[in-house]
Amino acid sequence: MKILVTGGLGFIGSHTVVELQNKGYEVVIIDNCSNSSADVLDRITKITGIKPLFEQFDLREKNKVQDFFNRHNDVSGVIHFAASKAVGESVENPLLYYENNLSTLVYLLQQLSSKSSAHFIFSSSCTVYGQADELPITENAPVKAAESPYGNTKQIGEEIIRDTCKVTSDLNAISLRYFNPIGAHPSSEIGELPIGVPQNLIPYITQTAIGLREQLSVFGDDYPTSDGTCIRDYIHVVDLAKAHVVALQRLLEHKNVSNYEVFNVGTGTGSTVLEVIQSFEKMSNQKLNYKIVGRREGDITAAYADTTKANNELGWQAKSSLDDSLGSAWKWEQKVRS
Ligand code: WQD
Repeated sequence: MKILVTGGLGFIGSHTVVELQNKGYEVVIIDNCSNSSADVLDRITKITGIKPLFEQFDLREKNKVQDFFNRHNDVSGVIHFAASKAVGESVENPLLYYENNLSTLVYLLQQLSSKSSAHFIFSSSCTVYGQADELPITENAPVKAAESPYGNTKQIGEEIIRDTCKVTSDLNAISLRYFNPIGAHPSSEIGELPIGVPQNLIPYITQTAIGLREQLSVFGDDYPTSDGTCIRDYIHVVDLAKAHVVALQRLLEHKNVSNYEVFNVGTGTGSTVLEVIQSFEKMSNQKLNYKIVGRREGDITAAYADTTKANNELGWQAKSSLDDSLGSAWKWEQKVRS
């Protein structure tokens, strides 16, 4: 079976391509390489021994999307990662995010809606919950007003899929709401490669530890948590990738309960920023240079997943601990800089 992975050269996309190939799927990647590089294709091939099909173009070019599906009418499923994902950038340039993240989704769904049977997995985010009223967060938690255009594109994206599935019985879709993806493939062939100054915690930690950054700033220690720093649910990217494969299999094997479903994908465990630092120092066997500074605009206090639905209905659960994930991130950082 041939599976289209959009954004398949990116951080989560590349790890998902590896897990799809491990399960025997033929993979075709579409990526515009705006936030990834084509050498990831060789790295994926090195891991699995199978070179995915690859086409480089921008999904905002509607005619190219149509042409692709005309040439690949044997695509059985689509996993859609391609999107802009920097929260801060989305605040500065909202139209870039609404165009890139939503027009591309519409063009893909237009193609899938005309097929006799289509299966679609959407890369969503726990961002849709904002600061949830109850923890851990279940899929029934209310979706709150987005804190950023990025988060809004995930909310609107889910609504576009839901509304399309309502009138397209042959379209079967699942939105996966990721918590915080971290770490790297055990081979250290693929991992997170933020362009410029990392916005996310883990790449900033590993770049500080390897000497690329002077010092980590911890954004606030006056939150109502055990040590005053924010809590997040850090999930190993390979565990997250495997969740996509089981979600796709659920659709291909017609085990879905309705033709639009939503699943949280996290570990179910929350960790504070200081706990992450302590874990990293243990795994890397070195002290991290950090300082406490003021809060970052838009940060929520705490978010971690209730994973019951994914555990029970997907038969999936995260396997890697925070230590494992940070160890793989550190190994990757050392290899990339060697
Ligand atoms: C985690 C914690 C920061 C950097 C974002 C997106 C979310 C998802 C994951 C795509 C927070 C603290 C961070 C630093 C710090 N992306 N921190 N110093 O904000 O939870 O989620 O990435 O789907 O949609 O919003 O992740 O890694 O930026 O921050 O203290 O230099 O680390 O305050 O508490 P976040 P993050």
